[in-house]
Amino acid sequence: MSDHMLTGHHEAEENFRTLLNNTTAAQAVSRVVEGTIGPKGLDVMLVDNLGRIAVSNDGLTILKLMEANHPVARMIISAVKSQQSEVGDGTTTTAILAAAIIAEGSSCIFKGVPVSSLVQGIDKGIKEAIRLIDEVTVHISSLDHKYLFDTALIAGRGHEDIAGLVVDGASLIGMENLLNPGYKLVDAVVSCEAAADRVFNGVIIKREPINMHILPEFISNPVIIVINDALGPGKIDNDALKTDSGFKHYMQSRDLYEHNLQKIRDAGVNLVVVDRGIDDMAEEFFSRSGIAVVQRVSAREIDDLCRHTGAQKLKRSTLDENLDQVKQYTGCAEQIRFDKKHRQILVHGGRSESFATILVGASTREAVEERERIAQDAAAAVQAAVQDGIVAGGGTLEVWLAERLQELADAEDGLSSYGISSVSEALKRPFLCMTANAGLNPLKKLGEVLSSQKETGSSSISLDYSSEKLVDAFEKGIVDPAGVKINALKTAGEVAASVLRINMIIKMQADKPDNTFIN
Ligand SMILES: Nc1ncnc2c1ncn2[C@@H]1O[C@H](COP(=O)(O)OP(=O)(O)OP(=O)(O)O)[C@@H](O)[C@H]1O
Ligand SMILES: [Mg+2]
Repeated sequence: MSDHMLTGHHEAEENFRTLLNNTTAAQAVSRVVEGTIGPKGLDVMLVDNLGRIAVSNDGLTILKLMEANHPVARMIISAVKSQQSEVGDGTTTTAILAAAIIAEGSSCIFKGVPVSSLVQGIDKGIKEAIRLIDEVTVHISSLDHKYLFDTALIAGRGHEDIAGLVVDGASLIGMENLLNPGYKLVDAVVSCEAAADRVFNGVIIKREPINMHILPEFISNPVIIVINDALGPGKIDNDALKTDSGFKHYMQSRDLYEHNLQKIRDAGVNLVVVDRGIDDMAEEFFSRSGIAVVQRVSAREIDDLCRHTGAQKLKRSTLDENLDQVKQYTGCAEQIRFDKKHRQILVHGGRSESFATILVGASTREAVEERERIAQDAAAAVQAAVQDGIVAGGGTLEVWLAERLQELADAEDGLSSYGISSVSEALKRPFLCMTANAGLNPLKKLGEVLSSQKETGSSSISLDYSSEKLVDAFEKGIVDPAGVKINALKTAGEVAASVLRINMIIKMQADKPDNTFIN
């Protein structure tokens, strides 16, 4: 054997080893979340070396918390994060699909299929699957559609109370807002320990006024001012204070400041919201005047409050303007409620944009966090359903797509058919995991669903995981938002193709930034 052949052989072995390692890492990530998917999925407990624990059923939460050192594991986790930020649900499905495409694809490479043909086929398979999803999507025309509650219930893991709250929140905010890509119903979800679940037209500021003790339980028709600054007199240099003119200037600026505080009172303001801190003089002045003041409010809460009440953020220097001008920056609402028990402020019935707040409560901190995540999943799913329609859930759509893609692969001449087959096989994984989680025989149930779908020509024949009977997913209300499925497929296909293209992993210089992709 020539030296050249030996080197070539060694290189191929090295490349296969990299591929095998990458595939193993991807599957390890998938295995962590496979047991959580579907109606019978269980939770994962994570423990750190100090013995602290976290328990969750949510794909992203688990993957974010788990220790993952392998670069491919980190690539999949980052794909899952992108699924969450784009559609807010379907993170477990994304991880499972990505790992399955990688596993199927790498076994094709081991058989000698060139990576470029394989990746081309994967891309074709994903595109065809998305086209087919479009064909079977049912669009939702009104917010009282039954499928909207079903969508919330499926994404909300069967919590009827949460599904009801989310659908009420969606109705409150209205179709126009839900269709606006800039509006996120997920952001309307707020949680609070020991609070009662409710939906209202308003916003919550999760901080208490610094003078809560002097405030009534509520104020009707309040006027609100939002100061996007710290509240205090202008700063004077210590050295300048030692001179006569410096001291005079200091006294003048304090007088102006006091005058400006009086202007806030004279503008009829009941609540002052400040994004940074306030000084003692302002605290004392507002308390004396019976005006609520809350400091260090988050940027998001301030933005929501402004949109809801029509208040405009102003800088401290804007207070130097005359009273009428200052009044123009204020916002109004029907009522402010000072929730002393939960140390927060509820602003209802703002005079500007409608704003839904979906408040979920539970008795312990852990339960509150999990209920908040469930409500967020349901909210994301409801908005995605309104925007792009719904498809059969329970892994059924994927099974139907798998069969269609296999037909396409069989009709394909070139080696890219292997890529299409890889996507087809991967699409069966979510269903197989869900049946396994329900304690059923996955391959037997897959066969039953496939043959029933073939017999009836219906893409929605599904499995009822409780009764083990074959049912129509739409009739049973087992529905998922089309957008979640489409995004999961795209994201999984992209990360799988990137992983399959990796030929070698080498160490990078220490000072180079992480996650740099140079092509
Ligand atoms: N009662 C049910 N019957 C049948 N299938 C269900 C039921 N409830 C949920 N499912 C299915 O479970 C799948 C979603 O499972 P799950 O919510 O655990 O994962 P995910 O949405 O991919 O990820 P995550 O919610 O963790 O971001 C969907 O295919 C959905 O249709
Ligand atoms: Mg989900």
